[in-house]
Amino acid sequence: MLFISLEGIDGSGKTTISKMIKDNLSQKGFKVLLTREPGGETFAEDIRQMILDKKNIITPWTETLLYIAARKQHLDKVVIPALKAGTIVICDRFMDSTSAYQGYARNVGMAEIDEVQNIVLGSTKPDLTIFFDITPKEAHIRLLKRKRKPDRLESEDSVFHEAVYEGYQILISENTDRIKVVNSRKPINEVLQQVDFLINDALNERLSKND
Ligand code: TMP
Repeated sequence: MLFISLEGIDGSGKTTISKMIKDNLSQKGFKVLLTREPGGETFAEDIRQMILDKKNIITPWTETLLYIAARKQHLDKVVIPALKAGTIVICDRFMDSTSAYQGYARNVGMAEIDEVQNIVLGSTKPDLTIFFDITPKEAHIRLLKRKRKPDRLESEDSVFHEAVYEGYQILISENTDRIKVVNSRKPINEVLQQVDFLINDALNERLSKND
C-alpha cells in the first residue's frame, strides 16, 4: 500500500521513533508492518548476525552483497506480500543504507550499488524515505549512553561515520522528491510531529491517486 523507509546514521533515534509511528498509524485504523534491515525475516536475521558480529572480517563487496542478499530475502518473503495485502510497511533502513555505508563510506561506489540494487529490487522502492538528521558527533554521544556493546559497524571510527553522513547528504540532494529530512535533535514529540506530517502527505497523495 505505502512503503516507507527510515534512514539515518547510527544513534539518530529512528528506531525509537519507529514504534511510535507504527502506533499512531494503527490507531488511525491502518494495517501497519514495522520491520527492519538487515533482518525482518528468519534467514535475513541470520545474515544480520553474521554481518554485525565483531569477530568477522568482511571485505567491502562481501559486506555489500550480504546486505543486499538479506534485503532480497526480506523483500520477497515479507515486504512485497504485505504491500500487496494493503499494509503500510515501515522499514527501519533500506536501500539507501547500502548506498551510504557501503557505496560511499566503504568506497564500493554509489553507482555500482545502484546498478546491483536496480537489478535485485526491481520496482519495489520506498514511496517515502525519512532521514533522521543529527550530526555524527551528537549521534556518537547518544551511542555512548547505550547499555549494549557496539556491533561491528557501530565500532567503526569517526572518519567512517562522518563519511556515512556525507553519503546520505549526497543521496538526499539527488532524491529530493523521495527523501525528506527531519531534525532529529529536537525533543521526541516534535520529531514525531514532523514525521506524522510527512506520512500524512504521502498517504493523501496515495489515496488521491487511487480515486
Ligand atoms: P541497525 O543498527 O540500524 O539495525 O543497522 C545495523 C547496522 O548495519 C548499522 O550500523 C547500519 C548498517 N547497515 C549497512 O551498513 N548497510 C545496510 O545496507 C544496512 C541495511 C545497514
